Amino acid sequence: MLNEDRYLTFALGKGRLANKTLELFERMGITCEEMKDKNSRKLIFVNEELKLKFFLAKGPDVPTYVEYGAADIGVVGRDTVMEENRNVYEVLDLGFGKCRMCVCGPVSAKELLLHHERIRVASKYPNIARDYFYDKKHQTVDIIKLNGSVELGPLVDLSEVIVDIVETGSTLRENGLEVLEEICPLSARMIVNPVSMQMDRRRIQDLVGRIRAMLGS
Ligand code: PRP
Repeated sequence: MLNEDRYLTFALGKGRLANKTLELFERMGITCEEMKDKNSRKLIFVNEELKLKFFLAKGPDVPTYVEYGAADIGVVGRDTVMEENRNVYEVLDLGFGKCRMCVCGPVSAKELLLHHERIRVASKYPNIARDYFYDKKHQTVDIIKLNGSVELGPLVDLSEVIVDIVETGSTLRENGLEVLEEICPLSARMIVNPVSMQMDRRRIQDLVGRIRAMLGS
């Protein structure tokens, strides 16, 4: 099969990032009408003219689809790229979905961090938390994996601090918690399967160039 006849497949992290990505594509003239039907239970959407396929997946699964080549290209938050640590190329910072990965907790936990106490850290991101505390800070901690509403950790004495995403900061404020340390800034990233990058370099680079130009303007 000629490369030109091959579909380029995109895995988009469900939710706000996928909507923003589709908006961006639409501005570039890449549309997928059937994807806009909110009542549809369809999982894969095709643009026959441009030979593109799109599917929505849970954020943490996006790097998995891309690493195995089930999708050529993925769009997902940098938090997920870091946490999953898959064999994919990160080719573009899309600039939207900006937020920060932080260590948060009650102000009283500041002392514990300062003195490198052996504390409990609750997070949806155990790998990011481990890398940060063990490799960067050389602090031994106990990491407790949660799947959401991580701010509960310090409130119910599951943990002293959390490692989580902070966007507006209102979840922290409403629960008497604060940002204690900033780990890194986050935003949406475009990732590519390494084999697809070899096979379809021209098409992928052309697309990345067009997106970059669109974001710059
Ligand atoms: C995310 C994150 C924080 C919150 C931060 O949670 O885990 O809880 O958003 O946003 P803010 O700084 O604007 O308040 P999400 O809503 O994705 O749900 P989850 O807690 O169930 O993971």
